[in-house]
Amino acid sequence: MSNKTIVVAISGASGAIYSIRLIKAFIEAQIGLLIILSDAGIKVLEHEMGYDKNQSFVEFLKSYKIKFNQDTKIDIFFQNEIASASASGSFIHSGMVVAPCSMKTLSAIAAGYADNLITRSADVCLKEGRPLILLPRETPYNLIHLENMVRVKKAGAVVLPPNPSFYQFPKTIEDLVDTIVARILDHLKISNDILSRWGD
Ligand SMILES: Cc1cc2nc3c(=O)[nH]c(=O)nc-3n(C[C@H](O)[C@H](O)[C@H](O)COP(=O)(O)O)c2cc1C
Repeated sequence: MSNKTIVVAISGASGAIYSIRLIKAFIEAQIGLLIILSDAGIKVLEHEMGYDKNQSFVEFLKSYKIKFNQDTKIDIFFQNEIASASASGSFIHSGMVVAPCSMKTLSAIAAGYADNLITRSADVCLKEGRPLILLPRETPYNLIHLENMVRVKKAGAVVLPPNPSFYQFPKTIEDLVDTIVARILDHLKISNDILSRWGD
């Protein structure tokens, strides 16, 4: 088990599959996880991924063939658990990913409006200078969305829209999603061979 911990927040934008593939990749890389679910994120997980909120989230992940072992470190929180570890800068971790990131969560982060555990944890990342990666999902973007992206970028976040690439000839939706997952791990300096690299 590595001693890295990453915060993964799932907000209520379409593309919940990105969070599931990302969690799978982190667990395979033996990264400890602190996962935060927004209320709307749960609704999208139910709609797009068949999550049942009466089920434990770990059991749900196992249904996606994510393999846990006795060393897997994973803690699950809900948006209202504002007093949880990642709400404080004293909790050390190696970065946070909001995947997918709704326009509402993006706007709250851009405004410093830290009213739930996701937006507070993101705010803490920015103030502590820790990596913060946002996967904003909407189309088309309006001017407010674009300005919010500029604002978070200026504050130190990485804006990584989930725009999959096609030059490696993905054959399945999972392959397409993994073109983004690999870039996220690269940004967090987590070694991975999810994709072959251009030039290899
Ligand atoms: C099925 C579904 C898909 C949605 N997709 C998006 C989306 O792609 N982008 C977005 O910004 N909001 C989307 N929304 C709306 C957000 O869920 C809504 O704005 C919510 O308040 C976001 O809350 P959160 O940021 O706290 O998760 C979607 C909602 C549902 C139910």
